[in-house]
Amino acid sequence: MKRFENKVVAITGGGSGMGKCSCKLFAEEGAAVAVIDINPVTAQATVDEITAAGGRAKAYTVDITSEEGMKNLFADIVETFGRIDVFFTIAGISPMGTAVTTSYEDYRKVMALDMDSVFLGCKYSIPYMEKQGGGVILNLVGTYGIRPTPNKLGYSAAKAGALAITRSVAIDFARSNIRCNAICPGFVDTPLNKGFEGEARDRFLRTYQPAPFLIQAEDIARTALFLASDDARAITGQAIVVDGGTEAALYLNYKRPE
Ligand SMILES: NC(=O)c1ccc[n+]([C@@H]2O[C@H](COP(=O)([O-])OP(=O)(O)OC[C@H]3O[C@@H](n4cnc5c(N)ncnc54)[C@H](O)[C@@H]3O)[C@@H](O)[C@H]2O)c1
Repeated sequence: MKRFENKVVAITGGGSGMGKCSCKLFAEEGAAVAVIDINPVTAQATVDEITAAGGRAKAYTVDITSEEGMKNLFADIVETFGRIDVFFTIAGISPMGTAVTTSYEDYRKVMALDMDSVFLGCKYSIPYMEKQGGGVILNLVGTYGIRPTPNKLGYSAAKAGALAITRSVAIDFARSNIRCNAICPGFVDTPLNKGFEGEARDRFLRTYQPAPFLIQAEDIARTALFLASDDARAITGQAIVVDGGTEAALYLNYKRPE
């Protein structure tokens, strides 16, 4: 029997990058998948790939910053598939800026998309999970939610907030058999990082990432499969870092003077 047979998994950002890869791997493992994205074309493309491979999926065009949209989303998922076992929030943006160069409008935009949506997802999925006796919530945070890098104020603040929401949900709902964890990738080779390729990317990775390979969307999706499975039943409220050792290293290339 496959690991997620008879399970229903909902994933935001399902039209691209880590979201698309996660939708496909959960479907391969037997789950019925709700593919959620603001882009109807890419969401449907993911569904088409899943159904062509013999899986079960439905596309949802939802702006995850809309409270009404999120409320209706879970009602529809439960009506369509009968339950919701795993909710994985991946959709997000990654803007640059300092406290001075970030406009208030852009700050609010990244907070809405990378943090408020996590609150809305938890708020409207948990009541269904409680009713059915449990569930798993995974939030794609990133190492910037643990430690910011320069010129990423809004993004780092939103991701740190998403991590705090993750921990709060974990402790508030552990007795309802609901687990909530954050996945914190470092640099992942996805369309989000288009434009950061070639020598500049290689230099960045040589300088900051101990592992000598490019982390792929599949590395993140496989971590999600483990965290959503019963193998991880005692893991909740954690920031699981998947970054080839980047966040563990201080001054990676520092050499002691002779
Ligand atoms: N790629 C990386 O290196 C990396 C590292 C750490 C964290 N992250 C975070 O992971 C998440 C996804 O990254 P990715 O690289 O897979 O990105 P991606 O750009 O490939 O995919 C993001 C998806 O989110 C969708 N989306 C955007 N706004 C939306 C909205 N309002 N409602 C619903 N869907 C929306 C997009 O249409 C897109 O399909 C982001 O939160 C990003 O900050 C990425």
